[in-house]
Amino acid sequence: MTFQMQKIAASGKGELYAELLTQARGLLHDEHDQVANAANFTSLLYHSLPDLNWVGFYFMKGGELVVGPFQGKPACVRIALGKGVCGTAAKTRETQVVPDVNEFPGHIFCDGDSLSELVVPLIRDGQVLGVLDLDSPKLARFDQEDKQGLEALAQAFLQSLD
Ligand code: SME
Repeated sequence: MTFQMQKIAASGKGELYAELLTQARGLLHDEHDQVANAANFTSLLYHSLPDLNWVGFYFMKGGELVVGPFQGKPACVRIALGKGVCGTAAKTRETQVVPDVNEFPGHIFCDGDSLSELVVPLIRDGQVLGVLDLDSPKLARFDQEDKQGLEALAQAFLQSLD
């Protein structure tokens, strides 16, 4: 592997996400293994985006979400479809942006440091493959720019599997 992570010098979120997308494509382009790419992808995000305490995947297995590669403290292993922020993203197939996890009914606490959360559903060939979950120790860490940027990054991850 020849990829070397570059420190991103961006003046705003748009630029940061554009650069991160380029880096993610470079990191994943010659590998198709789901676990390998998920592991490297979470490392790239965790070390490039500010104010995160957890970034990781949950993959659908036997009708429920099971934790996959992540960066951060140990997490809940299984989440039922429709439960918590992750299960809601998987069930509705819509990205969930939660400014205050204490205000989200049914939020599942894994790391007490998490105050806000963003979860992108991963849809592959019309099926929910899983979700990409990001947690922050800051309230309202994620906005619409983060949502767009992370949806594009999740898409790059999905494309790398083909
Ligand atoms: N808070 C999530 C559970 C996963 S952890 O944050 C890593 C949820 O409510 O689905």
